Amino acid sequence: MPAISVHAYAKLNLTLDILEKRDDGYHEMRMLMQTVTLRDTVKLETGAGNGITVSTNLRYLPTDQRNIAAKAAAVFLRETGTDCGGVSIRIEKHIPVCAGMAGGSADGAAVLRGLRDLLRPELSNRELVRMGVSVGSDVPFCIQGGTALAEGRGEILTPLPAMPMCHVVIAKPDYCISTPALFAKIDCRKIVRRPDTAGAVECLEQGDLKGLARRIYNVFEDALPPQYREVGMIRRRLIDMGALGAGMSGTGPSVFGLFSREDEARAAYGALKSAFPATFLVKIKQSV
Ligand code: C5P
Repeated sequence: MPAISVHAYAKLNLTLDILEKRDDGYHEMRMLMQTVTLRDTVKLETGAGNGITVSTNLRYLPTDQRNIAAKAAAVFLRETGTDCGGVSIRIEKHIPVCAGMAGGSADGAAVLRGLRDLLRPELSNRELVRMGVSVGSDVPFCIQGGTALAEGRGEILTPLPAMPMCHVVIAKPDYCISTPALFAKIDCRKIVRRPDTAGAVECLEQGDLKGLARRIYNVFEDALPPQYREVGMIRRRLIDMGALGAGMSGTGPSVFGLFSREDEARAAYGALKSAFPATFLVKIKQSV
């Protein structure tokens, strides 16, 4: 039976700004997004019967239509009018769930790319992005990957010059933050501090890693309730241990720091790993 294995890469928000609440309930965003090497593996097999089935190595993940990978497969089959006799999806998860790194969206994007390659190789990424936005706001970026400015709900993507190579330490406190709940807490008119997105784009154009790292900022950090204090603690520790810049990704609670020196990144990884088991030492990735 036709089968394919696709990598699904995590993303980080170098900047995240919320411009306004829209009439459809979503928010108008402006974000600098970057793919990193932390990844899941998504295996797809078509023609096995049984409709769309999902299995994963994490027992607590939903395997029905609440799973974004199943949703992506359903959207793909419907939008392309394809009947392939069933899709079986197996996900090996390494990206932490509910962490602000688009782990679910990356799996959804991997399903769209994998089904395209298996069933409809003539479809462009632009077509997949159009399908992806109905699966989730971060799916379009996960289809394109690399370094990009994401606007609108996240689906208006402008590719940017590749980020200079560096070492990335990511640490996630041991809890989840609800994305809709955090969006609901934000009053766009009251945001006091915003990221310098234009300046960060200029740094990318000049290959200026230090300038870029200094501009890492996410408006959600100021809206975090006090019980999430580990987010700020991790950010400060990363800076103390030599990170050029650090910040929370998406709606958190993952926090990342960029390092130019590998020895410092390794030391920070070791120090944080003992306190936060979901700590990773990764690199940036130029494409998916
Ligand atoms: O699109 P997605 O399903 O990932 O969005 C999850 C939730 O995040 C939405 O239901 C909405 O509450 C919020 N959201 C938003 N504006 C965006 C993206 C997400 O308000 N641009």
